[in-house]
Amino acid sequence: RVEIKTLFDDVSAYQEQKVTVSGWVKTIRDSKALGFMELNDGSCFKNLQIVFEDNRIDNFKEVTKFNVGSAVTVTGDLVLTPQAKQPFEIHADSVVLEGASSNDYPLQKKRHSMEFLRSIAHLRPRANTFSAVFRVRSVAAFAIHKFFNERGFVYAHTPLITGSDCEGAGEMFRVTTLDAKNPPLCEDGSVDYSQDFFGKPTSLTVSGQLEAECMAMAFGKVYTFGPTFRAENSNTTRHAAEFWMIEPEIAFADLAQDMELARDMVKYVLAYVLEQCPDEMQFFNNFFDKGLIERLKALVDSEFAHVTYTEAIEILEQHKEQFDYPVYWGCDLQSEHERYLTEQVFKCPVFVTDYPKEIKAFYMRLNDDGKTVAAMDMLVPGIGELIGGSQREERLEVLEARIRELGMDPEDYSWYLDLRRFGGTKHAGFGLGFERMIMYITGVSNIRDVLPFPRTTGTAEY
Ligand code: 4AD
Ligand code: MG
Repeated sequence: RVEIKTLFDDVSAYQEQKVTVSGWVKTIRDSKALGFMELNDGSCFKNLQIVFEDNRIDNFKEVTKFNVGSAVTVTGDLVLTPQAKQPFEIHADSVVLEGASSNDYPLQKKRHSMEFLRSIAHLRPRANTFSAVFRVRSVAAFAIHKFFNERGFVYAHTPLITGSDCEGAGEMFRVTTLDAKNPPLCEDGSVDYSQDFFGKPTSLTVSGQLEAECMAMAFGKVYTFGPTFRAENSNTTRHAAEFWMIEPEIAFADLAQDMELARDMVKYVLAYVLEQCPDEMQFFNNFFDKGLIERLKALVDSEFAHVTYTEAIEILEQHKEQFDYPVYWGCDLQSEHERYLTEQVFKCPVFVTDYPKEIKAFYMRLNDDGKTVAAMDMLVPGIGELIGGSQREERLEVLEARIRELGMDPEDYSWYLDLRRFGGTKHAGFGLGFERMIMYITGVSNIRDVLPFPRTTGTAEY
């Protein structure tokens, strides 16, 4: 048995040879004594055309009744067809049904809406769009590992269950063995977490950053790549409750080096996917975004823009009337503001840096002005925020003061503060939302369509 990708990659080796392929029927039609079916085996995006004839196979009538979606194994001659749409086809000697498909198979040849396909998440990997998206997802994940590996980074595994809220936004999913309706109580009426599995309240992680910082203080350059959970009640096209995040952390580095790393990583992944997934990218270019390939290709060699938050606010204030949300120094940038900057003003990826400390997390390094922190967000057209990162506060007293200022307990972060007591150094890192990267690469506009089994508010039927 040979995979369809192997045939397309090296057709000359199989020319006029007998081959056996297995796959699923994408289309099938026949007239009198001649029939055609297109097979896909998942090894590549392309389909393989099979020609079956009554005078050549012994079950012609039966094969004409196969439904789309059936699993079959075909043996036959590979014949070059230079003047046809497909470069070659298989003239079948035998067609064996491996698994029948009912005639109510939902993925018929017509185009289906993304909403409908979302309702059949168990079958949609076989639809063209999702075949392309999920392969790009796989290739992009590999590209990220390859990028960091080539640069000597250590891949760090950080815990999914954690006792700290890295982002301080209180958007955590609680993990508990206590009976939620009837928990054991302390004398003062509060929940008695000493009886909980870990003896204290724990949650699913919103970020592996704090643990990645620990690893970076040993290995110098590390990255994480893992599931991340946020109980954000925002029902948007860019937020999922479960998503994957890549978080590099680099010692002896400042914000400028952090931005350089972010830019290099994005370019590397774009270039790798463009090279490895030409068929999938052509499909997105045809059906989702006509200028996609050209734009992404140009990006690989282009500069990214850079403005400070203060400059960004000045720009946005001149276009106030365009926005639903108010713009003023100190406001958190909304997605409409981010997209305006990257889509209308700069028309390319843009770094926004040096945000007011009030709207950013406790660990970001305070700038000399005492008002802003060494933060950076990378905004890209069509998405808005793709990456969020910062230089970290390495000064023990400043960090401790900030923790207290935010009403947090330094005791809870004693291990994190220890990093500043034992060889603490300047360091920086960022988080890339993997799904947003896939949306950016493919032009798919809803995060629910780049996750095989999306977890968003009110949906977990799988
Ligand atoms: O900006 P965020 O919240 O930053 C952090 O978590 C830092 N600890 C990262 C770091 O410095 N190590 O999240 C980082 C990125 C965002 O830019 C966005 O792309 C993505 O994670 N993200 C989400 N993606 C999908 N669904 C959500 N609910 C997301 N929340 C954040
Ligand atoms: Mg952010």
